[in-house]
Amino acid sequence: MLFAPRKLALESVKIMANDIAVVTGASGGIGAAVARTIHQKSEGALRLCLHYNGNKNAAEAVQRDIPGSFIVQADLSTTDGRKVLLDSALAEGEPFALVNNAGVDRPHEPALTVSEEGFDRFIGTNLCGPLFLMRDFGREMARAEAGTIVNVSSVLARMAVPGSALYRASKAALEALTKQFAEELGPKGVRVNAVVPGFIETPMTDALRPEMRAAFIDRIALGRLGQPEAVAETVWHCIESDYLNGAVIAIDGGMGL
Ligand SMILES: NC(=O)c1ccc[n+]([C@@H]2O[C@H](COP(=O)([O-])OP(=O)(O)OC[C@H]3O[C@@H](n4cnc5c(N)ncnc54)[C@H](OP(=O)(O)O)[C@@H]3O)[C@@H](O)[C@H]2O)c1
Repeated sequence: MLFAPRKLALESVKIMANDIAVVTGASGGIGAAVARTIHQKSEGALRLCLHYNGNKNAAEAVQRDIPGSFIVQADLSTTDGRKVLLDSALAEGEPFALVNNAGVDRPHEPALTVSEEGFDRFIGTNLCGPLFLMRDFGREMARAEAGTIVNVSSVLARMAVPGSALYRASKAALEALTKQFAEELGPKGVRVNAVVPGFIETPMTDALRPEMRAAFIDRIALGRLGQPEAVAETVWHCIESDYLNGAVIAIDGGMGL
């Protein structure tokens, strides 16, 4: 199903020879798993563009596992960084899939002390990054009349946890934008969905204080952390399911029910 020429039927997911999948934050825990899963599930049909910001070693480790993949460094909170990623991807092929995964969850700031620096950091990385990449890659996909975008939100978009006001706001806005882009890009043959991880074992959560970690686990019905591969499977489901559009899918073990 995946490998026939895609122009034949707009409503079907079809991958062509020059198609690439861009994964932002592929140097991180979830992004690395997403990149490996896309490579494996597409049986190598989608060439991987592995984005990283500061951790080149981690990006190169993923690249070594994925034949034909290439790495791109960019700070996606900046206009220049986003342009670097777009231009680098376009120089290598036709963007068929974009996974907006890069994100930050720090600093933790109590509501009464949220700072403008914190606002710029969360909104710049977690919201401006995915928003303008959706716009720019979305244009390319719309021109080709095919493509799919997956945004990585967080269970904290719908849960009040002390210190996470700006993180929560950035992810809630990302979910709203997912639906908006799904509405406007759907008629152009481009699907947009979001996955909503709960508490996943990655460098992001490794850095939590033990008492915070224990408090989070208390709120998960399954009583354990999730693995990045579980999120990656859900991202793949969004990529391959050709009638899925505007969906926001939780993969959280029943956290915060
Ligand atoms: N882990 C969880 O429990 C969890 C739960 C819900 C949602 N999420 C979301 O899942 C996504 C991935 O999280 P993770 O747990 O895999 O975190 P992670 O291991 O800390 O990875 C974060 C990634 O984001 C990149 N990044 C950070 N700031 C950036 C910037 N300004 N420009 C470009 N890239 C930047 C990092 O790049 P470098 O390392 O190369 O600098 C890294 O690849 C995030 O959007 C996060 O909010 C995670």
